[in-house]
Amino acid sequence: MIYLNGKFLPIEQAYIPVLDRGFIFGDGVYEVIPVYSRKPFRLTDHLSRLQHSLDGIRLKNPHSDEQWRELLEQVIACNEGEDQYLYLHITRGVAKRDHAFPVGISPTIFIMSNPLPAPPPEMLQKGIPAITARDNRWGRCDIKAISLLPNVLLRQLAIDSGAMETILLRDGYLTEGAASNIFIVKNHVLLTPPKSHLMLPGITYDVVLELAQGHAIPYEIRAVSEQEIRLADEILLTSSTKEVMPIVSLDGKPVGTGEPGPIYKQLSQCYQQYKACIMRGQN
Ligand code: PDD
Repeated sequence: MIYLNGKFLPIEQAYIPVLDRGFIFGDGVYEVIPVYSRKPFRLTDHLSRLQHSLDGIRLKNPHSDEQWRELLEQVIACNEGEDQYLYLHITRGVAKRDHAFPVGISPTIFIMSNPLPAPPPEMLQKGIPAITARDNRWGRCDIKAISLLPNVLLRQLAIDSGAMETILLRDGYLTEGAASNIFIVKNHVLLTPPKSHLMLPGITYDVVLELAQGHAIPYEIRAVSEQEIRLADEILLTSSTKEVMPIVSLDGKPVGTGEPGPIYKQLSQCYQQYKACIMRGQN
């Protein structure tokens, strides 16, 4: 069951007009919210990032946070599975094709839920391969825009070369992954770039930094150069659907020992404990 413009429907019965500006221009924003034990994870943060994205594209938020919470609860309730991920998508609406903002139309609001499988244990134990590529996206990567063509093309480069993620470099510095944020470890220090217009402010990125702080793992938020990535002891990827994953090879060369490292193991354990605490309402 999905939610589309005020109605709950089976997904097969959900349609949007071809003139929707999401379809025509990619003119919209989205959120991906993990749900554990039927409770949305860090919902306040996701809703505030949604507001940031809507402000970025100058689209009025159609709902208050309270209304979003209720809608999302309803979508969770009419779908099976303890762990789900919510996909929330808002476009500027349906209008005759014209780049300029149309006047007097309503946004299209779509929410679906999918099962959220735990990351495959093999990937967590052995780690995953990644490649690097030049970050050729626009200058507002902080907006979670539905127009994801560059991310799609960049991620596919990884798949084409048998890897799982593409780590993006802009002017010789790390920005993020095609669909994730990236951390490296050098000499026991966790390093990641500061939030800027050049990357998505990841919710999992925030959680990992909070965990590093809370567990006395030394970390620095600063620009990370291409050379530092290539000489890293560990590389980690974070996202709402992948949580924390170890990257063990980069462009075909081993990262550090070529196996998931100690900081990954510590952070991943902390992440699971934190999740369990939140779900028991002990945050
Ligand atoms: N993507 N950077 C990009 C470009 C992303 O697409 C994502 C997540 C992240 C991580 O953000 P978060 O920790 O809030 O999930 C960073 C989602 C999962 C997606 O598009 O499916």
